Amino acid sequence: MDPYKYRPSSAFNSPFCTTNSGAPVWNNNSSLTVGARGPVLLEDYHLVEKLANFDRERIAERVVHARGASAKGFFEVTHDIAHLTCADFLRAPGVQTPVIVRFSTVIHERGSPETLRDPRGFAVKFYTREGNFDLVGNNFPVFFIRDGMKFPDMVHALKPNPKSHIQENWRVLDFFSHHPESLHMFTFLFDDIGIPQDYRHMDGSGVHTFTLINRAGKSTYVKFHWKPTCGVKSLLEEEAIRVGGANHSHATQDLYDSIAAGNYPEWKLFIQIMDPDHEDKFDFDPLDVTKTWPEDILPLQPVGRLVLNKNIDNFFNENEQLAFCPSIVVPGVYYSDDKMLQTRIFSYSDTQRYRLGPNYLQLPANAPKCAHHNNHYDGSMNFMHRDEEIDYFPSRYDQVRHAEVYPIPSTVCSGKREKCIIQKENNFKQPGERYRTFTPDRQERFIRRWVEALSDPRITYEIRSIWITYWSQADKSLGQKLASRLNVRPSI
Ligand code: HEM
Repeated sequence: MDPYKYRPSSAFNSPFCTTNSGAPVWNNNSSLTVGARGPVLLEDYHLVEKLANFDRERIAERVVHARGASAKGFFEVTHDIAHLTCADFLRAPGVQTPVIVRFSTVIHERGSPETLRDPRGFAVKFYTREGNFDLVGNNFPVFFIRDGMKFPDMVHALKPNPKSHIQENWRVLDFFSHHPESLHMFTFLFDDIGIPQDYRHMDGSGVHTFTLINRAGKSTYVKFHWKPTCGVKSLLEEEAIRVGGANHSHATQDLYDSIAAGNYPEWKLFIQIMDPDHEDKFDFDPLDVTKTWPEDILPLQPVGRLVLNKNIDNFFNENEQLAFCPSIVVPGVYYSDDKMLQTRIFSYSDTQRYRLGPNYLQLPANAPKCAHHNNHYDGSMNFMHRDEEIDYFPSRYDQVRHAEVYPIPSTVCSGKREKCIIQKENNFKQPGERYRTFTPDRQERFIRRWVEALSDPRITYEIRSIWITYWSQADKSLGQKLASRLNVRPSI
C-alpha cells in the first residue's frame, strides 16, 4: 500500500460513502438512535463528524471584495519588453504563463448583487517559473485616497451604516468631503461605467506605479492596463435594476457561461512607462494613485494578451481560498514609493493569515507552480510533506544556496521622518478634464447622480456646499449646474 497515493482529491473517490478518515459508512440516511424514535446516540461518530464539518463550512469573508468570480487561463507575451525587465514570464513574445483571475465588487457581502455602483476588482495571479506574480488591480485606473492610513475609515464610510446595516450616501459623502483627492475616482464611479455590464466588458488596471528592472539594473516606472477585446459596456440604472432583479449573480453567470460555451474572454495588456528621472516634470506626482498618466505623453504600449479559457472546478478552493497580494512580485518587477501601494504590501498577507490561516500559501490555488524551498514551516494546517533533516540555514550538510542576485531599484532614499501630505496634490485638474470628455448626455447623467446623492436628507447644507465648491474647481459649469439644481452656494 502506498501511503501517499490517496491524497484528498475527487480523483480518488471511493464507490461508497466514507468518514473523513476513510472508514466505510453503512447508513448515511438515519442517525443512530435508541429504538426507532430516539434519542440520538453521541457515539454516531459519522453523524457528529458530518454536522461538525457542516457547522464549519463558511470561513470569514474578505473584509472588502467579498463578492467575486474567478476563472483560469493563460497570459501570452505578444511584444518584446525584455529591454525593460528581466521578468522571466515577459522574456520573449510567444511565452505563455498560466493564470487565475478573480473579479469582484468591493463593498458588499459575499452574496450581494453584482449590479451595484461600485468599483470592480481585477486580480490576476501569474504562475511564473520564478514564483507567482499578483497584479491586484481594479477596473478604474485611479483610487479614492492616496494614503493607506485612510483606508479603514474609507471602507467603514462606504460599508453599511453599523446601526442600520444600510449603505447610506450621507456617510459616504461626509467622509469624502474631507478628501478632495477622491474627485477623480468619482468621475469614474458616478459615470456610466460605475456599473459595468459584467466582468467581461470592463477594463482593468494595476492602478499603482510599479517599477520594471532590467538585467543591467535600470529601473523604469510602469503602469499596467487591461483592455477587453469585446469592448467596455455598462448598465444604466434602469437596466441594472432589471438585470439585478432577475439574477443577482448575473456577472458570475456571464463569465461561467461564456467560458463553458468556448467564447473565451480576452484582454490585451498595455503598459505606460516613465523614466524615474522625469518624475518631477509633471504638475502632478506620478506616484500619486489618484492620478492617471496622460496617454498623449506616455502612450499605451502593447505587451500581451490574457485569455480565460477554463472555468474553476470548485468555488471554495479557487475563489474563497484564493489569496492575492500586491507584495507578491517576481524578479524584474518591483514596487514604487506610492504610499498606498506601500501600505497594501503589509495588509493582504496579514488579512490572509487571519482569513485562511498561516499556511494559506500552501493551498493549491495559491502555491507556486515552480520548485520552491525554505525553512518556514509547521503551524496550523501545515500539509507540506518534508523529509529533510536540515531545517536551518546555512548548513554544510544542505547544498541549498542563495538564488542568483536579481537587481532591485538602487535609488537613494533620504528625508526626515514625517507624517504629511504630498506636495503636488493637484486634486481638481484631471477630474475636470475627464468630465469635459463626456458627451452632453453623459454629463447630464453624471450631474443627475450627484444631485440625487447630495439630496440625501441627512446631508447638511455645509457638506453640499463643500462638494459644489470642489466640483466648481474641477469644472466651473459643472459646479454651477449642481449649485442651481440643489439650490446651494459654493463654500468659497
Ligand atoms: C492601503 C489601501 C488598501 C488596503 C489596506 C486594502 C486591503 C484589502 C484587503 C484586506 C483585502 C482582502 C484580501 C483578502 O481577504 O484576501 C483587499 C482585497 C482587494 N483589494 Fe485592496 N486594499 C487597499 C487598496 C486597494 C487598491 C488601491 C486596489 C486597486 C488597485 C485594491 C484592490 C483590491 C482587490 C482587487 C482585492 C480583491 C482580491 C481578490 O480578488 O481576492 N485595494 N484589499
